[in-house]
Amino acid sequence: MESSFLLDQLPKETWFGSDLYNWDGFRYRSHHLSAAMAASSYFKANDSDVFLASSMKTGTTWLKALIPTIMNPDVRITNDDGDDDDDDPLLKHHPNVLMPSLEVQLFMANPNPDLSGMSSPRLFRTHVPFPMLPESVKNSACKIVYITREPKDTFMSLWHFMNSAITARGIDPWPIDEAFGSFCRGIHAFGPFHDHVLGYWKESRKRPEKIHFMRYEDMKKEPREELQKLACFLGKPFERDEDVDKVLWRCSLERLKNLEVNRHGVDPSLGIGYEHYFRRGIVGDWKSYFTDEMQQKLDLITAMKFEGSGLGFGH
Ligand code: A3P
Repeated sequence: MESSFLLDQLPKETWFGSDLYNWDGFRYRSHHLSAAMAASSYFKANDSDVFLASSMKTGTTWLKALIPTIMNPDVRITNDDGDDDDDDPLLKHHPNVLMPSLEVQLFMANPNPDLSGMSSPRLFRTHVPFPMLPESVKNSACKIVYITREPKDTFMSLWHFMNSAITARGIDPWPIDEAFGSFCRGIHAFGPFHDHVLGYWKESRKRPEKIHFMRYEDMKKEPREELQKLACFLGKPFERDEDVDKVLWRCSLERLKNLEVNRHGVDPSLGIGYEHYFRRGIVGDWKSYFTDEMQQKLDLITAMKFEGSGLGFGH
């Protein structure tokens, strides 16, 4: 993208102290937009690729750990002696490293990076909305896993995370009422949230073999069933319950947040500690922060946006 020229033409708003640009109805930081456009031009999907797509703070990190673990023959099956931890890449790497992001990692520094060194199957993640995906991702046989979360909890998680990111740069935290108003108007990175979810939801209904649609709340409620469904979608079903349980343990919030790499490592993209990716991970966290008015407002927006789509968060 001729970035500065194009950016000057786009409507923009301020969000957590940074500019967000409106491109085709969705909001982006400038560097994410140019990287997403570069990916859209140059990325060529392989049929064996697996993509993890999500709006921010919907449980992506959980899936960033689960998908590579399901796909990894060294750790998806429990050895007879049960001692296979040394082979677990999660011990040394934050999940971001195991599923690199198109727009935050791969295409930001270089608009046409050489990905030929990646081993197959290649695992990627992205926050871009469905219409912005590279055409070859939409049209090849590669698989897409989409994770979403109840909007009130998503907002709370986003508010905590973004305030951690900006306070680390010496910027004052953004008050919750201002951030909430912005979220309700769809003004947040990769937002509007509801449009993002609907784009992938509708496509997953048309092509369930292509897009596997998941909800954070379902994973919390029935992790074994959800993990087995995900593994089947990825063509890697589990034969033994103990392997399912081991993978769930490997990727659990409790384990990951206590690993040395995640307690002390720093995210090079954001300059904040990896610890901020692991917070409480509970369903209904919004209840500790929302007023009745906030709850009614966001529930109403959700009901109106999702009406007739068959999608809901009935938990
Ligand atoms: P909370 O902020 O509500 O605690 P994302 O990974 O998309 O950025 O989403 C972050 C949310 O997922 C955070 O929610 C975080 O605590 C939670 N999370 C991160 N790793 C998790 C895991 N392994 N299991 C369950 N939840 C996890």
